[in-house]
Amino acid sequence: MTNTQTVQFPADTLERVHKIIKRYPEGKQKSALLPILHLAQAEWRWLSPEVMDYVAGLLNIKPIEVYEVATFYTMFHLEPVGEHVIEYCRTGPCCLMGGGEVYDHLKKKLGVDTGGTSADGKFTVKEVECLAACGWGPVFQIREKYYMNLTTEKVDAIIEELSK
Ligand code: FES
Repeated sequence: MTNTQTVQFPADTLERVHKIIKRYPEGKQKSALLPILHLAQAEWRWLSPEVMDYVAGLLNIKPIEVYEVATFYTMFHLEPVGEHVIEYCRTGPCCLMGGGEVYDHLKKKLGVDTGGTSADGKFTVKEVECLAACGWGPVFQIREKYYMNLTTEKVDAIIEELSK
């Protein structure tokens, strides 16, 4: 994806985008930014500058208004990512429950550092703040699914399952 000419939602997604924009009063279309960024990420897996510029055009706002939102939230990927993005909680309670050992095992198994993508392009590992599942730590999230009470054995089983 090298320029905005190549970035275009499919027709059905574009229809959803216009429905979302219509939820908001005239002149307040920027309020539709978050759900549209989610659609964009679902479409292209990550938010390139070209994609963010395209979204800005759809909302008739400045590209910087998209960048400042997309860079604020860790759920938006600003670099190419693998098929599965593993977002592990690095916050205190998860670390007290053995998160350090589990996450080190995960990264070693995939051969990546935090932020990296496995050589086969299947997995990207990201570090995030509290996932609001502190009582079930250590925790990581892959898309909307939470994996809790993690152990090194559970990590092995999850990676094996997702590698199929
Ligand atoms: Fe890990 Fe809250 S500290 S989910």
